[in-house]
Amino acid sequence: MDNVYLCFNIEKDNLKDAFYGLKALGVEGFNVTMPYKEDVMEFIDTFSKEARGISAVNTVYIDGGKTYGHNTDATGFIRGLKEESSKGARGDTVLLLGAGGAAKALAYSLLEDKCKKLYVYNRTYERALKLKELDPRVEVIGEVSQVIDYVDLIVNTTSVGMDDLSKSPLPDSIDFKSKQRLVDIIYKPWDTKLMLKARADGAFSLNGFPMLFWQAVEAYELWNGITIEKVQIDEIRGILKEKGIIK
Ligand code: ATR
Repeated sequence: MDNVYLCFNIEKDNLKDAFYGLKALGVEGFNVTMPYKEDVMEFIDTFSKEARGISAVNTVYIDGGKTYGHNTDATGFIRGLKEESSKGARGDTVLLLGAGGAAKALAYSLLEDKCKKLYVYNRTYERALKLKELDPRVEVIGEVSQVIDYVDLIVNTTSVGMDDLSKSPLPDSIDFKSKQRLVDIIYKPWDTKLMLKARADGAFSLNGFPMLFWQAVEAYELWNGITIEKVQIDEIRGILKEKGIIK
């Protein structure tokens, strides 16, 4: 397709001009990343239910002079999980580590996908409490040991372990059960310390690349009004492998 995708570094003071500038130029849409996923919302006309529920936008689609805000981090996360591990979160008891922006998007998507229960553990307990507003299934816990043995799915959204193989958001003493699944949204390193531990214990583990990949697929589909077919997905994966971007 005759498209280009470019990156721009924008100062906060220029965010409004950049937004309306892109609109005036007639671009199909754009992604918004940290730290503007919330700030950008004041310029957008209409929101998807995910963007509204999470109060953050990572994808803007422009059509007929109107702007639409989406959150494909949330939809992409579940799609990636389903693609890579054959099921999403339906019926699962989940432990979510962290309570920042990424945690909110993932909490929303796990709840939307009908998880049974969502325990949230965060270093700063009070910050996690705001996630309770999402749904009565959310429960904030003060110690992971309270639930670690019986959760089905563990999702790390903290930055602990990023660029550092010596750190993990869970104590070394914690063992995974072989039927548990772990998703760490970090992808640098490709396998985090937490993932290596889960794998050594026989549990399924997934890094953050599928989320990154599928949020991009979903954005591209929105902008172009298409569905990217499995054969094309495999082709893209092949190219990324060839370039050494994924393993
Ligand atoms: P993001 O938008 O990527 O989620 P964020 O909003 O800065 O980023 O959130 C980072 C998360 O990692 C938070 O849950 C943070 O915990 P706090 O709320 O207590 O700050 C967590 N985090 C970062 N560094 C951490 C550390 N050294 N130990 C434990 N948790 C940490």
